[in-house]
Amino acid sequence: MHGLCLGLAVDIASACDVRIAAEDASFGIMEIDVGLAADIGTLQRFPKIIGNDSLARELSYTGRRFSAKEAKEMGFLSEVVKGSKTEVVSKAMEIAKIIASKSPIALMSTKHLLNHARDHTVEEGLEYTAIWNAAMLQASDTQVAMRATLGKSIPNFAPLPPLRSKL
Ligand SMILES: *[C@@H]1O[C@H](CO)[C@@H](O)[C@H](O)[C@H]1NC(C)=O
Repeated sequence: MHGLCLGLAVDIASACDVRIAAEDASFGIMEIDVGLAADIGTLQRFPKIIGNDSLARELSYTGRRFSAKEAKEMGFLSEVVKGSKTEVVSKAMEIAKIIASKSPIALMSTKHLLNHARDHTVEEGLEYTAIWNAAMLQASDTQVAMRATLGKSIPNFAPLPPLRSKL
């Protein structure tokens, strides 16, 4: 993110897996100022992301603007990049390339299990993970990743099969 990230921008950012911003980014949960409750995800996701109920309510009730620095301090961002659009997009691509080099099945599973963990107890998550991974170990990615890691080579993963359920 860079520049003004108000209202809808915070809804969309809250739905993202990883958030980074340029130092010029400025945020606001602005729906309150147009007489609305934020309606596409901020109120559901933002409080869980920052884990600070009082602050989430303060920002949602007041519409106060907050800086990239404050957004990082509260846990909304994992990094603030010096510069603006060019710099932050280049950093995002750097991170995306690393993620894209990983096993698609391991990544999909990690994302799926993190989302599951967010909405369930630890015990439920562990039980679910055991079943999920038992099924996923039948894929060849685990062997391919292990061989590449041990041999310090670049793994070549098979593409992800079409998904039956929405993750
Ligand atoms: C919530 O946010 C405020 C403002 O940044 C901070 O002072 C406070 O320590 C935070 N509380 C928790 C539980 O993190």
